[in-house]
Amino acid sequence: MKITFELADGSEIVADAEPGMRVKDAALAAGVPQITGDCGGNLSCATCHVLVTDDWVEKVGQPGEMEDVMLDMTAVARQDHSRLSCQIEMTEALAGLRVRVPE
Ligand code: FES
Repeated sequence: MKITFELADGSEIVADAEPGMRVKDAALAAGVPQITGDCGGNLSCATCHVLVTDDWVEKVGQPGEMEDVMLDMTAVARQDHSRLSCQIEMTEALAGLRVRVPE
């Protein structure tokens, strides 16, 4: 399945993902800039910040309590559809997911 990362400069990177994979890991494998995932997905760095595009918000769902706290520590201020990509697990329902990468 594919995940499209929309970059701030208008370009896109399409990453491959398998069910069960975290969106953060797909971003790292595809070399998406700005997503560094410094803590390895342990919810302690907020360097995996993405903005879920409108069409996908419902399917992706809302952040959990800890993630919500960490979203206040992102380098780029959080927005309505901010998520930490290490906390989004790919499922068949998310095939074709599109997220924006904050600058
Ligand atoms: Fe550190 Fe997501 S990789 S919070």
